[in-house]
Amino acid sequence: MLRIHTGRNMSRIHSPPPSTRWALLLIVGACVGILFDTSTASAQTDSDEGAAAYATMCARCHGLTGDGRGPEVLDRPARDFTASGFSFGNTEEAIARTIRHGIPGSPMPAFGETLSPELIDALALHVRSLTPETEEPDEAETILTVREHPLAVRGGLPPIAANAAAHVRGMMLGLPGGISFEYRVPDLVLLGVRAGDFARRADWTGRGGASLEPLGKLLWLNEQGTPRPAASIWPEENGERSKSAPLMAQLRATRTPLSGASFSWDAVQDDGTLVAHIDEQLRAIHTPFGSGFARILGVTGPRSEPLVLHHGSSAGTPVDRLTMNSWDGLVVEQEEGAFEITLARSAPGAWSPPDTPEGFSITLPPTAEHMTDNQETTVVFITLLVDGWNPDDQEALQTSLDVALGR
Ligand code: HEC
Repeated sequence: MLRIHTGRNMSRIHSPPPSTRWALLLIVGACVGILFDTSTASAQTDSDEGAAAYATMCARCHGLTGDGRGPEVLDRPARDFTASGFSFGNTEEAIARTIRHGIPGSPMPAFGETLSPELIDALALHVRSLTPETEEPDEAETILTVREHPLAVRGGLPPIAANAAAHVRGMMLGLPGGISFEYRVPDLVLLGVRAGDFARRADWTGRGGASLEPLGKLLWLNEQGTPRPAASIWPEENGERSKSAPLMAQLRATRTPLSGASFSWDAVQDDGTLVAHIDEQLRAIHTPFGSGFARILGVTGPRSEPLVLHHGSSAGTPVDRLTMNSWDGLVVEQEEGAFEITLARSAPGAWSPPDTPEGFSITLPPTAEHMTDNQETTVVFITLLVDGWNPDDQEALQTSLDVALGR
């Protein structure tokens, strides 16, 4: 049974369905295909092909010369390639990746579904040719790059946002698709998620410690950069539950197998008492609605108090509350037509509070007496960035999430 909880301000959101844009792209893509099939002499080089495709599909926003002054008027200007202002990396590989996946939450479309890999490479080569020559960086060794394996590194982190703090202890995990996750270590709270190049080993404290400079562009900022704790307990005192108490984290291990990055940690109280052991897996999620990421938490350990697990969100106005078979969700509008959907799925018996304006908390009840130490409860949090939201899409969203998670 699907139930739609329509909250306060449940006006339906009318924004052009993403399918219109896809259809347009398909048509453009098809025309370009025809153009090349009929007019490409075999002598024509990749770069001619790239230049022609660029003129047809990209120049309207980026300008023919790549100066970002195309005829299309955008509320967020397209990148000026001639100023070399890339936030997602300026290598051919990085540019091709941006062209394939687009930039969620911005007008930059994804071309991966409509253009051949060869044409995307040709486009990347052409974009590269529009950028000024740069000298080979001899600091190359300080740059950490994620290749086919995910990567986990620890070090200090600079402030992720204007009013946020720097963190002496931090951790970054990068996935091969170019998505990276930034955590502060003392309590293992996710600060933000980036797309693009991974990180540089920097020395920004001037004290020689290994600090990290994230290189990707910030796609998602958790609660303005000073998020609430990821885990807390909700103890009972004199028969009443009052305030929850944040837990600290002890990082046990990071793992980066081909299948994705994960790390395990113990959630402990101030005095060091172990409350839960948590195995946290990170995945990039792609659905027809938009892209994002998942945190999959495997929780073990006998608990005598309820355990609250929190997944934050970036700022916005809540517009829809979702209750699906297996998912609870919250839709937040960030700016005209851009939405963030936060979803949570957990075990029977767990509950989420009736309305959380910022992000999502799942409360796991104390474990039953008979439960052994290593019986695992799985909690999944997903953040999706989408271009538009229609409440009628709930069911399709649920199906695509199940597909994205491979079940
Ligand atoms: C509808 C307008 C639009 C079209 C069409 C478009 N782009 Fe973009 N593109 C943008 C905008 C806007 C950005 C900047 C997004 C941001 O970072 O907020 C961008 C960013 C980029 C970037 C990212 C650079 C970086 O690392 O920061 C690349 C590369 C790029 N576009 C290449 C292309 C190519 C190649 C095409 C054609 C196949 C294309 N774009 C078509 C609007 C467009």
